Amino acid sequence: MENSGAIILAAGKGTRMGLEYPKVLAKSDEGELLGILLKEVTSSPIKEIVLVVGFQANEVIDFVKRNFNDPRIKFVIQEEQLGTGHAVKVALKSLGDVSSVFVLLGDVPLVKKESLRLLLEHMRKHDHVACFYSMLVFKNNEYGRVIRDFYSGRVISIEEYRHCTSYQKLIREVSTGVFVFDFQSLNQVMNETGEYLLESCRSRNIEFYLPLILDVFAAKGMLYDAILTENSDEFVGVNKKEELTELNLALNRMRINKFKESGVEFRYPETVYVSPATQISENCVIGPHVYFFGENRIGAGNAIEGFTYLYDVSCGNKNLIKAFCYIEGARFGDSCVIGPFARIREGTKISDEVRIGNFVETKNAELATGVKVNHLSYLGDCSIGAKSNIGAGTITCNFDGFSKHFTKIGSECLIGANVNLIAPIEIGSRVLIGAGSTVTKNLHDGCLFVERADSKLIDGGFEKYCQRKKK
Ligand code: UD1
Ligand code: CA
Repeated sequence: MENSGAIILAAGKGTRMGLEYPKVLAKSDEGELLGILLKEVTSSPIKEIVLVVGFQANEVIDFVKRNFNDPRIKFVIQEEQLGTGHAVKVALKSLGDVSSVFVLLGDVPLVKKESLRLLLEHMRKHDHVACFYSMLVFKNNEYGRVIRDFYSGRVISIEEYRHCTSYQKLIREVSTGVFVFDFQSLNQVMNETGEYLLESCRSRNIEFYLPLILDVFAAKGMLYDAILTENSDEFVGVNKKEELTELNLALNRMRINKFKESGVEFRYPETVYVSPATQISENCVIGPHVYFFGENRIGAGNAIEGFTYLYDVSCGNKNLIKAFCYIEGARFGDSCVIGPFARIREGTKISDEVRIGNFVETKNAELATGVKVNHLSYLGDCSIGAKSNIGAGTITCNFDGFSKHFTKIGSECLIGANVNLIAPIEIGSRVLIGAGSTVTKNLHDGCLFVERADSKLIDGGFEKYCQRKKK
């Protein structure tokens, strides 16, 4: 690989994408297509990199110069886009002293350097002059079909989809467009026949397709082959908008696979989305339909059950987030149990061993170690001291219709069910508040507060009530 060059084709307009700008600058979840490819190629020991540009060449060149300060990258302008074969022909002149050359497509950006190395090794081992990756596809698509000899199974040629017969369109093995060539052989064949191929294609009103070179190799008895890859995610090509979605799905699968390798368990990985800026540590278990958006830092040993949405969440270790939670802009410590059906909003800071149960909403709330809010509460603009227990239906009434106010609750409090805390208010530590109370004044440490409306008990009242109604 150290003695190889790479030609990256990025001159096309990408008409099928319907963009105003070059297709290779289309943005995926992990940035521009060309950026992804160049990041991989520039991190390999490849010696020379020739980027073929044409449509809006300056935009592409500017993008590359802004993002890659790599002296190995050279730009070649392909004035007219006469096909991938023509693009390679133009680029070859700029390659210097290399023994092999990869041809990569700017719209097939996920290929890994390890795969390129294997491709090169395969070609050298078999003494071939070219090798490319093929893959199996099962949905309708317009990749070039790999034509093999019926008896020997050897690759004969690649037929571009638009020229395939209806029978050939049924072939499931397609070319990924990722090639390696022996430089000498390609250069020689291109010098001898390139001009002729270009003209004959022109006269037939078709592009000079790079795979036509295989036909020339065949005529000269030069050998070539394909490696059928099992990892088709690496070779998704983006020609249409829906293929950009395919590419994003492939990127997501790649990120998930990396986490799997580092010891994260995904119960139904194909239903999970993990944004590029999400970190998940080892021994986490992620349930079905969990979505990580934005920037998340998930510590070790957390279990996140299904149907949960996380956005900008950071949490420590060994938390259990039960199913159906919506969590955004929040921080957790360790060993908390959240949900099911909890809504944790921005500015929530949760310490260790906190329990937040179903239908609890928190916003701008600080919950110290061991706090329990098990059911049906709203805790907004508040801080709650260690080990306090908040009863079902308790509300911090933080909004007076004009502005927000703060509620401070000390530690080890027992707040009964359905308590309204009218902010601004301060409750001391070890305070007991009876169920149903509305608290409007500060309460000092150690007190008991209870508010009860008068109540009546009428013997036989049930019957009396019914009689009255029947009249
Ligand atoms: C190409 C392959 C096809 C393969 C598929 C895999 C050819 C002719 N076809 O088809 O066999 O299955 O990729 O994704 O190689 N480009 C130039 N100059 C040109 C023409 C194209 O630089 O004159 C660039 C484009 O900008 C693009 C890349 O080459 O980045 C591939 O061209 P595209 O037209 O997308 O080829 P496909 O039809 O996808
Ligand atoms: Ca393409």
